[in-house]
Amino acid sequence: MLSQSDNELLCRVGPGTAMGDVMRRYWMPAFMSKEMPDADSDPMRLRLLGEDLIAFRDTHGKLGLLVNSCTHRGASLFYGRNEDGGLRCVYHGWKFDVTGQCVDMPGEPIESNFKDKVRQRAYGIQERNGIVWAYMGAEEGADMPSLPDLESNMVGEEHTQMWIAMRECNYMQALEGDIDTSHLGFLHLGAIRPEEAPAKSFNYYTVSDRAPRYHVMDTDVGTMYAAYRPAEEDTYYYRFAQFLMPCFTMIPTNALGTQVIFRAWVPLDDDHTMFWTVSAPTDIGEKAAGPRTAASGTTFSGTARGPVYLENTTDGLGRWRLANNVENDYGLDRAVQRAGKDSGVAGNYTGIDGIHLQDQAITESMGGVYRRDQEHLGTSDAMVIKTRRRLLNAARALRDQRTEPPGANDPTAYRVRSGGTILPRDADWLEATASLRQAFVTHDIT
Ligand code: FES
Ligand SMILES: [Fe+2]
Repeated sequence: MLSQSDNELLCRVGPGTAMGDVMRRYWMPAFMSKEMPDADSDPMRLRLLGEDLIAFRDTHGKLGLLVNSCTHRGASLFYGRNEDGGLRCVYHGWKFDVTGQCVDMPGEPIESNFKDKVRQRAYGIQERNGIVWAYMGAEEGADMPSLPDLESNMVGEEHTQMWIAMRECNYMQALEGDIDTSHLGFLHLGAIRPEEAPAKSFNYYTVSDRAPRYHVMDTDVGTMYAAYRPAEEDTYYYRFAQFLMPCFTMIPTNALGTQVIFRAWVPLDDDHTMFWTVSAPTDIGEKAAGPRTAASGTTFSGTARGPVYLENTTDGLGRWRLANNVENDYGLDRAVQRAGKDSGVAGNYTGIDGIHLQDQAITESMGGVYRRDQEHLGTSDAMVIKTRRRLLNAARALRDQRTEPPGANDPTAYRVRSGGTILPRDADWLEATASLRQAFVTHDIT
């Protein structure tokens, strides 16, 4: 449970809020490069951390991220003309380059140097391997940290799988679902009996014991859990997952040592979050985790399908919305829920099709910003509790002592991995997995 004031501190990210200030110390994924591939692009509306922004790619291919409202008299730059190395407001023709500098003011006398003194607020923006990153803690041109060393964004775009989707709830509510390993055995795999899962697979162990025990701890850049449950007679199945400040996670769906992934829960505003998953899958990792299919060979419900989107709009909250949403109860099929399975597909606990959609439905169902003074936390919520505390402490430390939040200026702290592994019951689990949890290390795991 959190007091209402702590809940507000945790969840509110707009300009001037304490958590908003924390968020503004980090680079965050803003949009995919493929959403804006061409020079002199259409300007794109973006809502990010509660601010309305306009992104554009200029004539030379450079990206700019300007605040929406023109510094002259407030017209939206979305309607601007992207031409000759800058974005020109169509109200009175003021033109700004990607750094926000005003480079033309055609309505002023020719001898005026007013334009040299005028800047449109512009934030940091850069792209790496298909992701366009934004830094909202300083204006373009100021000192900024380097991008975080998130491995799956550094192995080359051709090795990367990535997709994104908007979620209509607070970032923390969505993120808490990602670090809550307990729900896997219910929301996603609740209708699968152990005998339906292939022997010796991670899924078999998960559905054989749905109440794992936990170790949770702080790391240099966030928090980590190791959830463990019996595997074979003399072994445990461990799932290691990471939370990385301020809104990144690494989930343990594949084998530790080979899984290369990060996920991000980027706050668009207090009630809207852009989910990102960026992975670099390897065959060897898939094999080590064991089959994802039921023992009969059919896939588990919803594990094989990708997202289905509504058409994007030009609204700042109009991108990558899912076609199944609260309007149609996320496609809930009560007959499937009752039967506990879909035709030809094993194990559907919810009647909602697909792991992502199941998470989406449940976390959105808690409301825009859930009031945590109403909740009742159990032992399985240990990682959620630890992670909230990490974020709250970071927000207070920055607000009260001007202490920089963890990892904000240390890109190398992000060089970690998540995943599942089998260890002897008497193993030193932390020591035994130290090198498996390091990014950029090759392991031969079978
Ligand atoms: S409001 Fe933009 S140029 Fe006047
Ligand atoms: Fe989930």
